Amino acid sequence: MIPQETIERIRDAADLVAIIGDVVKLRRVGHDFRGPCPFHGGRNPNFSVSTRNNTYHCFKCGESGDVFTFLQKHGGMDWPTAVRAAADRAGIVIVETRGSRDDARDAREPVWALLGAAAELFRETLWSTDGTSAQAYLASRGLDRVACDRFDIGYAPSDADVLRAKLGALGYNELQLIDAGLLVKRDDDGRTRARFRNRVMFPIHDASGHPVGFGGRLMGPGEPKYLNSSDSPVFSKGSLLYGLNWAKNSMRKEDQALVVEGYMDVIRCHLVGATHAVAGLGTALTEGQALLLTRYTKNVFLLYDSDVAGQKATFRAGLELLRQKAAVRVVALPDGDDPDTFVQKHGRAGLDRALHAGTDVFERQLQLLDRKGWFGDLSKARKAIDKVLDTLRATADDVTRSLYIASLSDRTRVAVAVIEKEVAEQPKLRRTAPVAPTGPPSVGRSRQQPPDMPPSDSGDPHMYDDHPQRDPVYEVPVVQPPPLNAPPRSKWQKKRQETGWKMDSSRPNATKNGLVAGPELSVVALLIQDRRWVRDASEQIDATLFEDARLRAIYELLLKLGADEPLDAVELALETEAPFAMDVFLEVVARTADLTPFPGPQQLSGAVRQFRVRQLDHTLRDLDGLIRDTDGDARRELELEREVLRQERRALLAERFRT
Ligand code: UTP
Ligand code: MN
Repeated sequence: MIPQETIERIRDAADLVAIIGDVVKLRRVGHDFRGPCPFHGGRNPNFSVSTRNNTYHCFKCGESGDVFTFLQKHGGMDWPTAVRAAADRAGIVIVETRGSRDDARDAREPVWALLGAAAELFRETLWSTDGTSAQAYLASRGLDRVACDRFDIGYAPSDADVLRAKLGALGYNELQLIDAGLLVKRDDDGRTRARFRNRVMFPIHDASGHPVGFGGRLMGPGEPKYLNSSDSPVFSKGSLLYGLNWAKNSMRKEDQALVVEGYMDVIRCHLVGATHAVAGLGTALTEGQALLLTRYTKNVFLLYDSDVAGQKATFRAGLELLRQKAAVRVVALPDGDDPDTFVQKHGRAGLDRALHAGTDVFERQLQLLDRKGWFGDLSKARKAIDKVLDTLRATADDVTRSLYIASLSDRTRVAVAVIEKEVAEQPKLRRTAPVAPTGPPSVGRSRQQPPDMPPSDSGDPHMYDDHPQRDPVYEVPVVQPPPLNAPPRSKWQKKRQETGWKMDSSRPNATKNGLVAGPELSVVALLIQDRRWVRDASEQIDATLFEDARLRAIYELLLKLGADEPLDAVELALETEAPFAMDVFLEVVARTADLTPFPGPQQLSGAVRQFRVRQLDHTLRDLDGLIRDTDGDARRELELEREVLRQERRALLAERFRT
């Protein structure tokens, strides 16, 4: 792991002007440097590098960031490579903490483990008697058990108790379930309940296959039809693609990707063997998703619903993908069909025929304008050009853009040079519709003009039709935290207000101290809630097992002070003995203040189990390395040892759901 502090140092020390200057010619303008934008490829000096903040920004396409984002986005590097490259150029030597990069454990692992356990629990529930109606629903959508299992589909009952009991048996407490987005706290009575109730659950994974969240579908009428996990350190809607973990290999192999709108569409495609299909998560395709997707292939087919909303979503997605130099084709499905229903009717062969008939996204845009008569008369043709300028500007690949311009010139009989000049100019303000004011986003969550959307792009609601645009972003209001000005009831209540109780992990402060779910937090939280468990804890759990130094310090102190000290005394002692752990202590206190503790014995034994699994994982990894370098009898012995440990690990995991 590269320490955060080193990263900051590299960020500041990087000679951004020189690095970007390698790619485009920059000229000094006051404190800053200006030049053509290396991202959208214009010729005018719209791109500025600030020497004061060491950041860059394009006034035209809106790209902005620091040395790392530049190396990632422009140089195509992944995060660690970008950090190393920037460090090399700045002459900074990176000293990694705890072993090499590959050995470093990801801080998100415990949350993945918890979400994986939850997914497994939902899956079990689906096939239990509680899941009968969900089973019937899935059958009605043409999904049998084999299909459901292939995509880890499950069912979340209305009642949170099952979740609490079963995950509690694994050593997870209420706080951790809240942080993972499985439970939410109600503001009226402060009680927690399940976020997903009576929904069919589609687990969502990151590209590496870690479970990071869920989409839950109602089986009957109601809103929202699909509910997604809220954004959190492990789940960010805008940079995940549903199905990517299953699709990425075929995407590479076939050098092609299908982008569809929904969970069911992805599943249906995969079931007929089109395993290179993915979907966004209810939002228009974002820049992050386009970047992610184009890592695997640059040939993208868009298969959206055939309605107006689908059309708009198509062109938004097209824009983002063109920015990443993808070749984008649009597949038109018959009215009323989405890929799910279309494939059910016409099978794989039908899908292949539709793909074959796919049209280039720009060509499709021209076709639609043509059909509506935009090229028919001269005054309209002028406006028609305005309408496609943003697509042209977004097209990062020079050859593609030049072909597009030639095609537009053909249709409109406007000279190529004239169109090129328009493309290079600043986008004009629209006269027909007011442009959303720039500046801080208004409250009230206006979704008309997401901040990442350049003005007057093809998301322009006036572009194709007068139909209202379907809201592209499905979101559920976040549960509000209790008012911060409510009168404090006790000292700890006050602390809780100061530290800011966060009930939704999407709030950045939820992990401000970098705490993650896991046995360490679980034990410390239990003891803070109820110190009577100190003795049992000290007998079962050795402080050296703690990897987080702050939690270890708190744990050691709690053991030392014993069962009778009030929290104040603990706080006081911590102040002198381990002040570096104070923030974490206050956070745990604040966040457990009103929660009913889980049964101590269960929580302790769960933690013991988790600690042991963690130890086993470390040992197993070491063994793997050793085995690779060993031959003959010695190797067989090591393999035997590994098998024994693996069995122990399996047994521990199997114990999980036994309450
Ligand atoms: P659709 O409403 O087109 O649903 O939303 P669908 O995919 O055809 O779903 P089924 O077939 O009725 O089950 C498309 C996608 O938009 C997101 C989901 O990702 C969905 O798959 N969405 C939709 C939400 O996130 N929330 C909603 O309330 C609705
Ligand atoms: Mn559908």
